[in-house]
Amino acid sequence: MNISPVIEIKNVTFKYSCHPILENINLTIYPGDSIGITGPNGAGKSTLLKLVLGKLKPVKGQVKLFGKPADKFTEMYRIGYVPQNVTAFNQGFPTTVMEAVLAGRIAVRGLFKTFNNEDYTRAEEAIKRVGLYPLKNRSLSELSGGQQQRVFIARAIVSNPDLLILDEPTVGIDVQAQSILIQTLRDLNYKDGITLLIVSHELELISPIINRQVCLDRKICYCSSCMAENDADKVINCRKSVWAYQ
Ligand SMILES: Nc1ncnc2c1ncn2[C@@H]1O[C@H](COP(=O)(O)OP(=O)(O)OP(=O)(O)O)[C@@H](O)[C@H]1O
Ligand SMILES: [Mg+2]
Repeated sequence: MNISPVIEIKNVTFKYSCHPILENINLTIYPGDSIGITGPNGAGKSTLLKLVLGKLKPVKGQVKLFGKPADKFTEMYRIGYVPQNVTAFNQGFPTTVMEAVLAGRIAVRGLFKTFNNEDYTRAEEAIKRVGLYPLKNRSLSELSGGQQQRVFIARAIVSNPDLLILDEPTVGIDVQAQSILIQTLRDLNYKDGITLLIVSHELELISPIINRQVCLDRKICYCSSCMAENDADKVINCRKSVWAYQ
């Protein structure tokens, strides 16, 4: 049976001005995959996510999302995205937790439509899933950084996406909230079948919920399920580079 990939990255090269950031990236992600991307600071991980989301265009190669060129993809409700440092750019957000999460339903509902009962129910479910239900009527500006991070994760899942892209989602979150988040992501992947693409330096934390690990450092230097068995030296070298910053 032929399963259509969720994400297809083919021979992608990217530069900011003249500096090569990513070179000849090839990665195919299938429905139900849970991919963990690791790599040193400046390796191009966040850049790769922006290419997948169509926010940046490769100078060479092609990125496809659900079979369509990423920069022409319009069904954004199918994707939940939490950017790196999301809370830093949303300080003083003059809304409640509920309102912030409901905003994620705009992708489903359209910009000028009013929210209906289903939207409120989905928003409550998403807030419960990140363990913030008792704070649902609090103003976002009254929450801690870690609690705000969880609000943005709730907003990313409220549209019931097929693909969830998280850029360092566990940074700044306490141990208990990390465990709630990991359990939530596991359920979203295992039970709801949502494809996950997670950038994280905390490999130990995410390893129980990923089925493939990709190590990126300008190039893909290790990809756990696309390695050739007869390429053992390369794999060992790549593993060394993964372990070097664990
Ligand atoms: N808007 C930009 N303009 C120019 N260069 C940029 C821009 N954004 C990122 N870069 C450069 O691109 C490289 C890759 O950045 P990127 O943010 O993708 O790294 P990263 O792997 O996500 O790192 P980190 O682990 O620190 O988040 C870095 O050298 C960075 O300085
Ligand atoms: Mg980054």
